[in-house]
Amino acid sequence: MPPKQVDILIPAIDIAARVKTLAHTIRHELPHDLMIVALLRGSFVFTSDLIRALYYEDVRPQIDFLTLSSYGAGTVSSGIIEINRDIRESVQNREVLIVDDILESGRTLSFAHDLIMQRGARSIKTAVLLEKPGKRTIDIRADYVGFTIEDKFVVGYGLDYANYYRELPYIGMLSG
Ligand code: IMP
Ligand code: MG
Repeated sequence: MPPKQVDILIPAIDIAARVKTLAHTIRHELPHDLMIVALLRGSFVFTSDLIRALYYEDVRPQIDFLTLSSYGAGTVSSGIIEINRDIRESVQNREVLIVDDILESGRTLSFAHDLIMQRGARSIKTAVLLEKPGKRTIDIRADYVGFTIEDKFVVGYGLDYANYYRELPYIGMLSG
């Protein structure tokens, strides 16, 4: 059983509205022959909603997945990023949008950014659903941010605690 109780921080309806706005902004700022690289596992829900919102903005991206890990089973980052599963598409000369669930220390996004750059991308933009501003150890900003939240451990909408709670339709905070 999931170990803790969850309080709603961002309701599903607010996430849906924000994702729609982000898609609209992205549509006007990025090329339509976009390559999206979603960072797994946490961004799978955000990415799947974002790409469908982009569809209604007439964006037809190619999509690939990069599985990185920085967390163990707890709530504190190990600080070491590893590739668990690499992308399969070439990003050579492509305009790439990297999508992640949350920007905290910046290590994950920065690792992904450097990797995609090394692979020869023409340009890279980044989108995250959430950011915790106080926690950065690497100086990196995301181009598109859904919500800025306080420094609390959050779950739901793809984000997990010990691989639980990913299915929650809202962003919640662990309590109790
Ligand atoms: P960073 O590398 O420290 O920026 O952390 C980014 C990664 O850590 C995200 O992709 C998440 O998978 C995970 N993470 C950071 N904060 C949280 C949180 O509050 N809840 C769940 N996962 C988190
Ligand atoms: Mg993650």
